[in-house]
Amino acid sequence: PIVPVILSGGAGTRLWPVSREGHPKPFMRLPDGKTLLCKTYERAAALLPAGGTIVTVTNREHYFASKDQLAETRLDRHHQAHFLLEPEGRNTAAAVAHAALAVNATHGPDSVLVVMAADHLINNEAAFRQAMEHAAGLARDGFLVTCGVPPTHPETGFGYIQGGEPLDDQGGRRVLRFVEKPDRETAERYLQQGDLLWNAGIFCFKVEALLEELRQHAPEVLEAAEHCINLSPAHDSAGVLLQELHTESFTQSPDISIDYALMERSERVAVVPARFDWSDIGSWNALADLIPADGQQNRVVGDAVMEDTSNTFILSDDRLVATVGVDNLIIVDTSDAVLVASADRAQDIGRIAKRLKHEQ
Ligand code: GDD
Ligand code: MG
Repeated sequence: PIVPVILSGGAGTRLWPVSREGHPKPFMRLPDGKTLLCKTYERAAALLPAGGTIVTVTNREHYFASKDQLAETRLDRHHQAHFLLEPEGRNTAAAVAHAALAVNATHGPDSVLVVMAADHLINNEAAFRQAMEHAAGLARDGFLVTCGVPPTHPETGFGYIQGGEPLDDQGGRRVLRFVEKPDRETAERYLQQGDLLWNAGIFCFKVEALLEELRQHAPEVLEAAEHCINLSPAHDSAGVLLQELHTESFTQSPDISIDYALMERSERVAVVPARFDWSDIGSWNALADLIPADGQQNRVVGDAVMEDTSNTFILSDDRLVATVGVDNLIIVDTSDAVLVASADRAQDIGRIAKRLKHEQ
C-alpha cells in the first residue's frame, strides 16, 4: 500500500509572529480558513483508499493540536491515523527512519511511503496525485524518488537536482547529482545552467529501499532508530495508533536531514517533474504572493483601511489596521505582537524570533 508520512517539525521563524515555537507553521491558518496541516492531511488522504493509514511524525507537544487538525478534516473517520511522537527534533533523517521502521512493522517492506512536509502549499491537487502515482511507480522499481520544481530564483535554502538518464516517457529521470542548500554563487550558476530543479521536499520510496540505503549511507541514523522503535504502537481511546519515541534512545539519533544523509549520497535517486503549483511559504512575501493584489499592489488578509499605500502586505487577526503614505511594508498584527518590516527584509524576520528566544 501507499502510506503518506507527514513531517511536522520546524517552527518557521521567518513567519513570526504568527508562526512560533508554541504555534509552528503547520498550524498557521491561511486566508481560506484552513491550516497548512489540514490541507496536507487532505492531500495525503487523496492518495489513499478508505481505511488507508496516514503517519504523522511530530513533537509530542503537538499531538493534540495535530489530532484536532485531522478531526477538522473528518478524515479520521475514514482513515487510520498513526502518530510517532518525538521528545525533541532530530531532523528529517531520523523522523523518516523511525516512520519507515514503524510502517515496516504495520504494513511490510513493500509499502510505498510518500513523505511530505506539513507546511507546504500545493495548488492543483489532481496534478499532485498524478505526480505521486508517477513517483510510486518508480519507487516500486527501487528508486528513492524526489519531486523537482523549476527554479525561479537563486534560492540557497533548497536542494538542487540534476536529472540524468530518462527512466520513462513521462519525464522521470535518474538523478545525476543532488546538492543540498548550495551557496549563493553556486545557486546562481545552477539557475543559469537551466537544467537543474529545486527539490520540493516530497519523497517517495519503498520501505525496503529506504532501509537499505540508510544502512549503507547513514547507518548511525538507522541503528539509533532500530534501538528506539521496537516498542509496539498502542491505540489511544480515539483509535489512533500511537508510538511515543523514548527520549533516551531517540536523542541518540544524529541531527541530519534526509537530504544530506541520503539524497546527496545514494545512487538510486530518481526525480519526477512537479506539474503543480508548489510553495514552501518560506517568508511573508511568499505568502503574500498567494493573495490577490489591489490596484496599488497591496495584499490584505483581515481588515485594513489604506490611504496612499502601495506594495504593502497586511495580515490582521482581528483588529483593524490603518496605513497612510507608506510603501513596501509587511505588517502583521496578532493579539500579543505586531510586526512592521520592510518587504525587502522578509528573509531577516527570523532574527526577531531567534533574539526573543535568546532573551527569554
Ligand atoms: N517530525 C519532524 N522532526 N519533522 C521535521 C523535523 C524533525 O526533527 N525537522 C524538520 N521537519 C519537517 C519540517 O517541519 C518540514 O515540514 C520538513 O520536515 C522539511 O524540513 P525543513 O526544516 O523545512 O527543511 P528545509 O526547508 O530546510 O529543506 C528541505 O525542504 C526544501 C523544500 O522546502 C529540503 O528537503 C530541501 O532540499 C528542499 O528544497
Ligand atoms: Mg522548509
